[in-house]
Amino acid sequence: MSKKLLIAGNWKLNGEKKDISFIKNLLKFHSKKLTKKVDILICPPFTLIDKFCQLTQRSNIEIGGQDCSENETGAYTGEVSANMLNDLNATYCIVGHSERRLYHNENNNLLNKKILNIQKNNIKAILCIGESLSDRKQSKTLRVLGNQLKGALKNNINPNLLEIAYEPIWAIGTGLVPEYSDIEEVHDYISKKLEDFYGKRSKKIRILYGGSVNAKNVFSILSLNNVNGALIGGASLKIKDMKSILKQFI
Ligand code: PGA
Repeated sequence: MSKKLLIAGNWKLNGEKKDISFIKNLLKFHSKKLTKKVDILICPPFTLIDKFCQLTQRSNIEIGGQDCSENETGAYTGEVSANMLNDLNATYCIVGHSERRLYHNENNNLLNKKILNIQKNNIKAILCIGESLSDRKQSKTLRVLGNQLKGALKNNINPNLLEIAYEPIWAIGTGLVPEYSDIEEVHDYISKKLEDFYGKRSKKIRILYGGSVNAKNVFSILSLNNVNGALIGGASLKIKDMKSILKQFI
């Protein structure tokens, strides 16, 4: 079954009020022809989600969070909940990006709680998984990814509200991309794992690739087997780059 592609921008710690022009520009650029083939998602910092959701509400452009709390409400200073994202009409939330795992010590148990909360609020979770360079050098890639999937997807996760992003840590922001045969091997493995977990229901889950995706390599990467989209950091920040990426799929 061929799946509709998902092209998602992860803005990380970038974006200010002036970047509302990015969304206005994207709104002018996107067309029915494009959104028939590609789902477009932008994940700005929390501070811009409300405005971006308002601007895109009558379009096919989706807005999402980059993270959220594992808690629903209460005394958790600085946190933002999935319920709050839903309140703003955000429809996706990234979970377990390697930068969260690394700088905020997020582990699979915590990510599992976050996913449950996200899905409870009818938001789609994009679970990020990925190996380090040393894992890859020691041929541990598939084992590491298998453990990340098993740990984060326990406790009745809903496959209808789930996407996976495979992001090798060593490829993020470095300009390095794995051999295409390695990307296919991993995506094939993830697809089989999801089938083990969810049977036929796994068919709807998209498996995105992330890590140094740009206008030059996006088409080749998204043509690989079992690659159903891309999670894009640096190249999603400028409207010019985003347009060059998206127009290849019209
Ligand atoms: P990059 O980031 O495209 O800048 O490598 C991807 C990501 O971290 O999601």
